[in-house]
Amino acid sequence: MASSKSKVAIIGSGNWGSVAARLVASNTLKLSNFHDEVRMWVFEETLPSGEKLSSVINQSNENVRYLPGIKLGENVVADPDVESAVKDANMLVFVTPHQFVDGICKKLVGKIRQDATAISLIKGMDLKPEGPSMVSKLIKDSLQIDCCVLMGANIANEIAKEQFSEATVGYAENKSLADEWVRLFNTNYFLVSAVQDVAGVELCGTLKNVVAVAAGFVDGLQLGNNTKAAIMRIGLNEMRAFCKMLFASVNDETFFESCGVADLITTCLGGRNRMCAEAFAKSGGKRSFDELEAEMLKGQKLQGVLTAKEVYIVLSQRGCLQMFPLFTTVHHICTGRLPPSDIVRYREHANNSALVNSDSNMVPAALPAIRSLRASRIQVQDSNNVGQCMTALPGGLSCVICALSTNSRCRNIPAD
Ligand SMILES: NC(=O)c1ccc[n+]([C@@H]2O[C@H](COP(=O)([O-])OP(=O)(O)OC[C@H]3O[C@@H](n4cnc5c(N)ncnc54)[C@H](O)[C@@H]3O)[C@@H](O)[C@H]2O)c1
Repeated sequence: MASSKSKVAIIGSGNWGSVAARLVASNTLKLSNFHDEVRMWVFEETLPSGEKLSSVINQSNENVRYLPGIKLGENVVADPDVESAVKDANMLVFVTPHQFVDGICKKLVGKIRQDATAISLIKGMDLKPEGPSMVSKLIKDSLQIDCCVLMGANIANEIAKEQFSEATVGYAENKSLADEWVRLFNTNYFLVSAVQDVAGVELCGTLKNVVAVAAGFVDGLQLGNNTKAAIMRIGLNEMRAFCKMLFASVNDETFFESCGVADLITTCLGGRNRMCAEAFAKSGGKRSFDELEAEMLKGQKLQGVLTAKEVYIVLSQRGCLQMFPLFTTVHHICTGRLPPSDIVRYREHANNSALVNSDSNMVPAALPAIRSLRASRIQVQDSNNVGQCMTALPGGLSCVICALSTNSRCRNIPAD
């Protein structure tokens, strides 16, 4: 007879994946409606000793590569075969770097339980020709299952040491399912709450990595705490404007949850994105992020630089680059088009910073118009340069393309 107990699989076993497995496994032992065993899919690697990572995890109960020195719990079982890891599970926790999710989901189509449901702990976006798609949507659409998200001020190594922190679950409709995820993750040192705002929670977790890169530049240039706080404030405003541009449903309250301002602060103070960006700025932009990632992160993945590029592509496709000067400047610095010192000259790259100024009422006024223009206008000429025209925006905002060109009429609007 089929058991009514829930069974959990963790898809991913990096730094955060291993900590997530440890958190969840401590709870499945205590909660009677969960099977004790937690399967953790391991992207197999051969260690310098010649041994396989998954075997070493199962022998030592430790992820020696991504979370050394921390016992995961005897009920965590490493499995190098993703299909076998999810076979019996009805609660799937996705926690890999975002660039691998698409491939993993393709492998899992038709291989998961009918009653499976998912949560994504992954930060990042998937760029499709038709527009940006969040990772939770990718999972939901590929596997035809509900997908919540869990984000927050969660530097994995601190949670591994059971230092107090908070996290936010974002859910779409099903509150009782969200409560089940909260029960699975919540401990006395990891306080989880749920909000009905998947897009807001997920985008906050994704975008803050771009701000963390900016904060790292500030640190590398030794510009001090005031500058870093200013960059964080401006970054938060751009995060809010970007979220609302993509999803009208995003709640302002979400930015005050752990997934919002708290995650932004911790990532700008600690975290790998800030650290690599600091080293990049110290080198005067001469060392590449690929080189720094390989040297400093030892197999862990840097997300902020990739996300900055993805954000840049989205903004260029919508002709909104000038309204997000900090995000745009971060991408230009990462790609060597601007020096790291330009992080504090970001306003010079702005044409209409009023849109992202918190004192302005233009955010709510103008963004719906941008959204509606998406449907009606105009050609996107290429993903790096010219986007949709916004000549018709209310409030006297002019087309960013025209403002930069000598043409009196926007060259992106065909003659009527
Ligand atoms: N580490 C943190 O503090 C932290 C906190 C919150 C959220 N996150 C997010 O969690 C997600 C996972 O991060 P992490 O810290 O667990 O990973 P990580 O960066 O520590 O490790 C990289 C992982 O990717 C795997 N990998 C490498 N190549 C692969 C491939 N081709 N296919 C599939 N997997 C491959 C590696 O085996 C390893 O498990 C990311 O989206 C990250 O932003 C991380």
